[in-house]
Amino acid sequence: MIDKGFDVVAIDSEKIAFDLMLKRPEIIKQRAHLKTIQSMFQNLDFASLPFVDVVLASFSLPFCPPKYFNEFWKNLVSKIKLGGYFIGNTFDLGFTKFKSSTDMTFHDKQQTLDLFKDFNIIHFEEVKKESKENGQFEHFYIIFAQKK
Ligand SMILES: C[S@@+](CC[C@H](N)C(=O)[O-])C[C@H]1O[C@@H](n2cnc3c(N)ncnc32)[C@H](O)[C@@H]1O
Repeated sequence: MIDKGFDVVAIDSEKIAFDLMLKRPEIIKQRAHLKTIQSMFQNLDFASLPFVDVVLASFSLPFCPPKYFNEFWKNLVSKIKLGGYFIGNTFDLGFTKFKSSTDMTFHDKQQTLDLFKDFNIIHFEEVKKESKENGQFEHFYIIFAQKK
């Protein structure tokens, strides 16, 4: 995203995520265009976050616990400018690796589509496949949508 000319706010709960990212030469070069926030999604101070052109949430939203998800999602959507984009994933309960986690939020196909009532969906894909890990299945959705 930085290489494409965006200013980026990167959010993750784990310090190691930033430690790894900040070692990358292409990131070091463009450090002025990157702000990092170490926070759990559910604890984010949305008032201090900018309005954004794109939210890129790959394989991350489901890690917000169910108790906080609706509020978190409402706040996240409110920060996308009209005409801005969401790119990311939701996980179905058929994603067996995570199935027993009570701290994660799962959405089936209809529940995923319901999240995007304020968006035009540009690309929607259901991925259902055997995982590389033995006996596990991956079942998730890929969403590319534009806020109305
Ligand atoms: C499966 S990784 C995905 C990382 C990256 N987006 C990607 O696509 O490669 C999930 C990330 O979510 C972070 N995470 C897990 N629970 C979180 C939470 N409650 N709030 C914020 N980040 C969280 C983890 O530290 C991890 O970096």
